[in-house]
Amino acid sequence: MMKFKDYFGNQVQLSFSFLPFSKTPKHVWVICKYKDKWVLTVHKERGIEFPGGKVELGETPEEAAHREVMEETGATIASLIYLGQYEVTTMTEIIIKNIYYAQIESFTSQKSFYETEGPILLEKLPDRINEDDRFSFIMKDLVLQESLKQIEKLETM
Ligand code: GTP
Repeated sequence: MMKFKDYFGNQVQLSFSFLPFSKTPKHVWVICKYKDKWVLTVHKERGIEFPGGKVELGETPEEAAHREVMEETGATIASLIYLGQYEVTTMTEIIIKNIYYAQIESFTSQKSFYETEGPILLEKLPDRINEDDRFSFIMKDLVLQESLKQIEKLETM
């Protein structure tokens, strides 16, 4: 388990074991790839980030992952792999998120992408993403860097 601060100074705990902080997490985050490109969404306020959001009532986290990816990028998922979970302690609440790795199957066209401008495909994520104003704060802590290491491990297996 890892402990560190996020971009805002909130305490984060991250683990790549199975559901360490909650069996019923209320949030999901999905690191998406289509062929050799990362698939992200452009959030209207936060900027570029991997898609995700809240698990709705009656939904499993996996169902939420499929729905959020569709809403925010228009993409359907071919495979969804659970990677880990993290917990962010803010002044007012504790947020627990499942992290997934998704292979995108295809894109559908749609009129609205909810709170986002829709998908963006990137060959490479910037090396100094923390200093890049185009990117959302949720991309700017060790959760992303450590998750990418896990994905690299999976891909070399
Ligand atoms: P909406 O109802 O979707 O508008 O929710 P919200 O804007 O209140 O955000 P949410 O409940 O998802 O998160 C509340 C706070 O938790 C954010 O302002 C962040 O400080 C923190 N938070 C949420 N998700 C993350 C994340 O993925 N990483 C980090 N570091 N902090 C997060």
